[in-house]
Amino acid sequence: MNSPQNHGTALVTGASSGIGAIYAERLAARGFDLLLVARDQERLEVAASMLRDKHGVQVEVLRADLTQKDDVLKLEQRLRSDSSISLLLNNAGVAADGLLANADMDQLERLIQLNVTAVTRLASAAAAGFAKAGRGTIINIASVVALFPERFNATYSASKAYVLSLTQSLNAELDGTGVKVQAVLPGVTRTEIWERSGIDATQIPEDMVMEAGEMVDAALSGLDQGELVTIPSLPDAADWDAFVAARHVMAPNLSKSKAASRYK
Ligand SMILES: NC(=O)c1ccc[n+]([C@@H]2O[C@H](COP(=O)([O-])OP(=O)(O)OC[C@H]3O[C@@H](n4cnc5c(N)ncnc54)[C@H](OP(=O)(O)O)[C@@H]3O)[C@@H](O)[C@H]2O)c1
Repeated sequence: MNSPQNHGTALVTGASSGIGAIYAERLAARGFDLLLVARDQERLEVAASMLRDKHGVQVEVLRADLTQKDDVLKLEQRLRSDSSISLLLNNAGVAADGLLANADMDQLERLIQLNVTAVTRLASAAAAGFAKAGRGTIINIASVVALFPERFNATYSASKAYVLSLTQSLNAELDGTGVKVQAVLPGVTRTEIWERSGIDATQIPEDMVMEAGEMVDAALSGLDQGELVTIPSLPDAADWDAFVAARHVMAPNLSKSKAASRYK
């Protein structure tokens, strides 16, 4: 099938498996050329070849370890210099298991480098280029644990809360520039992430686990509908609106010259 329309190039991090691989397929079907990024070059090449054949789009593979600053810098440079890039999907991420008190801190530091630092650096580079061009889309993959940190590993949940917060601030900063921003908050999604992080996902009730294809299709529908935050499984969008509204109720009182009377 030939691409219906060229939308520029989508840079997809973590495109070698799971959610990123599905996004790559869906974006190719929408007519995006692709720049696929991950560490496993062989897997990326296989996906690239399939996507070229199936969708008739240009697909480039770029091997990068996004816990390594040099690799992130190369990608930033590419984002700043390649004006054909019109979409950044900040998807690459890892999870972790266990209590913070017992954690392997080197492993958690790598998680933060990937889930937080790389996401931030790439979003910054994309924001600069896209705002200048007056167009573009930045999608950051967060997680529902951003809203429920008590239910999961502390560092992973905090990293995803960071991604949500970053996206909300970035959206405000880019207001009026023509750049679209979206945070996607998947619930449990069937991918390799569980096995990779040593978590036994077989204990999770089946009715809580979404297939990656369904998750990505819902997220892209949310993007098309102009949502800043998409929670694919949330039945009633009014629940999220109420959560946001509750923040706004507190807003006028969050910074005052006097402490609240209950503290006196
Ligand atoms: N699955 C879920 O239940 C779920 C729920 C909420 C949010 N998420 C988020 O969704 C995103 C995608 O995860 P997934 O579930 O699709 O997991 P996955 O199948 O394990 O995919 C993770 C991707 O990230 C890449 N990656 C890992 N470490 C990397 C590194 N150091 N440098 C560059 N790329 C790296 C992996 O490729 P290589 O190994 O080839 O580098 C792979 O392509 C993550 O941000 C995750 O936190 C997942």
